[in-house]
Amino acid sequence: MSTTLFPELALSLDALRARQLERLRAALRHAYDDQAPYRAKCQAAHIHPDDLRQLDDLRRFPFTSKADLRDSYPYGMFAIPRERCVRIHASSGTTGRPTVVGYSARDIELWADLMARSLFAGGARPGDIIHNAYGYGLFTGGLGAHYGAERLGCTVVPMSGGFGERQVQLIREFGARVVLMTPSYMLAIADEFDRQGIDPRSTAMRVGIFGAEPWTEGMRAEIEQRLGIDAVDIYGLSEVMGPGVACEFVETKDGPTIWEDHFYPEIVDPETGAPVADGELGELVFTSLTKEAMPVIRYRTRDLTRLLPGSATRMRRMAKITGRSDDMLIVRGVNLFPSQVEEQILRDPALTGHYVIELSRTGALDDLLVRVEARTALEKEAALRSQAELVRRLKGMCGLSATVEVAVPGAVERSMGKARRVIDKR
Ligand code: DLL
Repeated sequence: MSTTLFPELALSLDALRARQLERLRAALRHAYDDQAPYRAKCQAAHIHPDDLRQLDDLRRFPFTSKADLRDSYPYGMFAIPRERCVRIHASSGTTGRPTVVGYSARDIELWADLMARSLFAGGARPGDIIHNAYGYGLFTGGLGAHYGAERLGCTVVPMSGGFGERQVQLIREFGARVVLMTPSYMLAIADEFDRQGIDPRSTAMRVGIFGAEPWTEGMRAEIEQRLGIDAVDIYGLSEVMGPGVACEFVETKDGPTIWEDHFYPEIVDPETGAPVADGELGELVFTSLTKEAMPVIRYRTRDLTRLLPGSATRMRRMAKITGRSDDMLIVRGVNLFPSQVEEQILRDPALTGHYVIELSRTGALDDLLVRVEARTALEKEAALRSQAELVRRLKGMCGLSATVEVAVPGAVERSMGKARRVIDKR
């Protein structure tokens, strides 16, 4: 760990908490003074920034939710004049209005710094060639990673997603040591390496920093084994900044370290909003401590995880995200996350991480279908064995009887960004 390049990584716990408190006071004041929708919430709750005396007092303040951003579409949550925003990003929003976020010049600087810190933690070093296949555009992945890689002193290949054949060609010919993309897209690229008959180990590629969607330890093992690289988890979301809110250290690979000096994390009960203790599962909530254009106080991410003690630094880590509360499937009354299905699939070495879950309904009953690709065109008998085994494992895991289809390689639709894991026809 380089504390010369990133001195904050050496902060003691006391220094960290002191810095957080000081920044939190300023952040609350900024939101109260300059973000009208949040001030209205505070007034309704009869609370004022002066009521914060210690970090724990934060829990008395109102939450910010995605609905608040939608209701003030497009610029109502900006806490500086729009003219001072140098950039806007937006998340697609599968239904209704997109969520718009704005950045001041200082926010972009901070983002580049924290993305550089993330890439460094993930194993990138100044001078590396970084192949960036996160999508460029309104999505925060491409530009966020790009600025961070430049800030770290790397040579960026601004590839964006798509054109699988060229991805492989340029990773090889330009000599990338680090690749950035979603984990599901990395699997698709691994297939493309196979198709072209190229051994990924013969390239300079050594590290992949993957995020923007949930992925399991099974998926990590599959990527590392197929590509011969270290696969590291990076987390972030547009509303809080974009990629680089938290990132795993390549040396420990034990869950993303949250850059707590800029984003104060809490875990709450997703139903009641009541805080839960560190180590317990719940919804991740973030307060930005230093953002200018669009501060967020107690933003409900809907991501489910646990807070863990620091390992590589004194800053806390988050466990791998189980899923989003809105991605939770309710099948015949049973709660199920796609990542739980992924975990069971990847216990079978004959199956791959290319899968989709289809839900339909016959009469009053939900039907659960899991379609998953085999690694190679399996003999009928082997396919039947994998199928029966997965049915058994799913039943054991959640009690549901699923229909499993073991499909030939290439049968499941590929995405070049966030994979679509669920087709709900109910
Ligand atoms: O996905 C930002 C990002 C880009 C992160 C590139 C990492 C790499 P949004 O499009 O706003 O921003 O989506 C944010 O994606 O709330 C999580 O549900 C999910 N997500 C992001 N990273 C991870 C991860 C970007 N490492 C939403 N593991 C978040 C699991 C993740 N889920």
